[in-house]
Amino acid sequence: MYTQGLDQKDKAAGATGQDDSAERLAAFQARIDADEKIEPKDWMPAAYRKTLIRQMSQHAHSEIVGMLPEGNWITRAPTLRRKAILLAKVQDEAGHGLYIYGATETLGVSRDELVADLLSGKAKYSSIFNYPTITWADVGAIGWLVDGAAIMNQIPLCRCSYGPYARSMIRVCKEESFHQRQGYEIMLTLCRGTEEQKRMAQDALERWWWPSLMMFGPGDANSSHSAQSMAWKIKRFSNDDLRQKFVDVTVPQAEYLGLRVPDDDLELDEETGHYRFGEIDWQEFIDVINGKGKCNRERLEARNKAHDEGAWVREAAQAYAEKVAAREAA
Ligand SMILES: [Fe+2]
Ligand SMILES: [Fe+2]
Repeated sequence: MYTQGLDQKDKAAGATGQDDSAERLAAFQARIDADEKIEPKDWMPAAYRKTLIRQMSQHAHSEIVGMLPEGNWITRAPTLRRKAILLAKVQDEAGHGLYIYGATETLGVSRDELVADLLSGKAKYSSIFNYPTITWADVGAIGWLVDGAAIMNQIPLCRCSYGPYARSMIRVCKEESFHQRQGYEIMLTLCRGTEEQKRMAQDALERWWWPSLMMFGPGDANSSHSAQSMAWKIKRFSNDDLRQKFVDVTVPQAEYLGLRVPDDDLELDEETGHYRFGEIDWQEFIDVINGKGKCNRERLEARNKAHDEGAWVREAAQAYAEKVAAREAA
């Protein structure tokens, strides 16, 4: 999904100096096991807080960077209707970023810090947004596959143990399902159009299929945070389980479009009812995460440019807030 369980070199969990005694940890785990929500003012283990900050900030960054590949097509959308829908969709992603930054701030980290880490290239975001959008069909493929994969990942997060994250996901998921439908509708229109349009749709599926499968993060055997996140009910399903669900739902949708999924090993296992699929190119995943994707540089440059050009808005908002505060004090 948008977080991919990406590891970053962390400081020791006890760096905050708080008392994470066995007793407190056991009491905390008992609350989690009883399906209680953990709220910002509640005691929580330092490692739980740190895991959430990492996951939620990566998620928020992904929403914000995720506006860029499709934003490139707003001025080139083929009709006014398509343009209006795409504008609304890209604005939704900005909103998702803002809710999740807000939810992350409840863990005691400032938005300035989070944004600075994104702009400097220190923070990670989903690998998927470092691929280029070459034709209009890519906008369809992104909605269908990328937002589709995001839903698969985010629906279980609505039941995440951390209250503010879980609540922010409820609205996000409703909007993601609109995004998925609009993408699929673009693909359907192209597939019912001319030969050339259908070829565009097929080409987009070929380029976005494997990166979409990578969105669920490394396989379970190589996912170091998984077991602890499951115990804390931050995660409800493993990366491989979510990826399998996505493949099972998406392959019949491709068949309905009359498109071919670019995987020679793909076949339905009649016994289990699940699709078996080919090996993911994990080297490509690692390369893209480490900054060697086609668009990593372009994405960071675009975010930095937007941040710099928006400085006057932040300054004006700050000046206004100070004026209001001064008036209230007087
Ligand atoms: Fe989103
Ligand atoms: Fe979306």
